Amino acid sequence: MSENTCLIVYASMSGNTAEMAEAIAEGIKAAGAAVEIKDILLANTVELEDYQGILLGAYTWDQGSLPDEFIDFYEEMDTLDLTGKLAAAFGSCDSSYEHRGAAVDILMGKLQQLGAQIALDGLKIDLAPNVEEKELCSQFGRQFANMLLAECS
Ligand SMILES: Cc1cc2nc3c(=O)[nH]c(=O)nc-3n(C[C@H](O)[C@H](O)[C@H](O)COP(=O)(O)O)c2cc1C
Repeated sequence: MSENTCLIVYASMSGNTAEMAEAIAEGIKAAGAAVEIKDILLANTVELEDYQGILLGAYTWDQGSLPDEFIDFYEEMDTLDLTGKLAAAFGSCDSSYEHRGAAVDILMGKLQQLGAQIALDGLKIDLAPNVEEKELCSQFGRQFANMLLAECS
């Protein structure tokens, strides 16, 4: 895998986090880096080792929890050392719940714990991203890719 390739792994039940992932990927490509996107159900934790940039996305569920389909992946991440990787997390959420976007914080904590360099604060968007919010996602992707490209140059 080339040094400036990013992997986005996401979980999305009703499509909102998937829309964020697509917009982030657009931003990464616009900045000149390569990106692959995988649904959590098709992803394997060891794949994270093959990419220099790692973005994890999840909606928040059940009083501030990760989605059920993310749990195995999350637990298996403990076998990894992500030192030297650039990483960040994102996800759709809903401010009407007490623990807004807590899944994003959980993923950021895990990435940090495993030694990854955190590129950006976690990106949380309420429900489906509107046009401005998609632009925010795209910007998030561009910033992430610019940091990755700067590191690899
Ligand atoms: C049962 C249930 C529990 C939820 N719990 C939370 C929560 O604790 N915090 C939060 O920010 N959003 C919560 N949400 C909102 C979802 O994260 C939100 O609908 C999100 O847009 C779903 O993203 P998706 O389309 O990618 O699946 C909950 C939604 C449902 C249906």
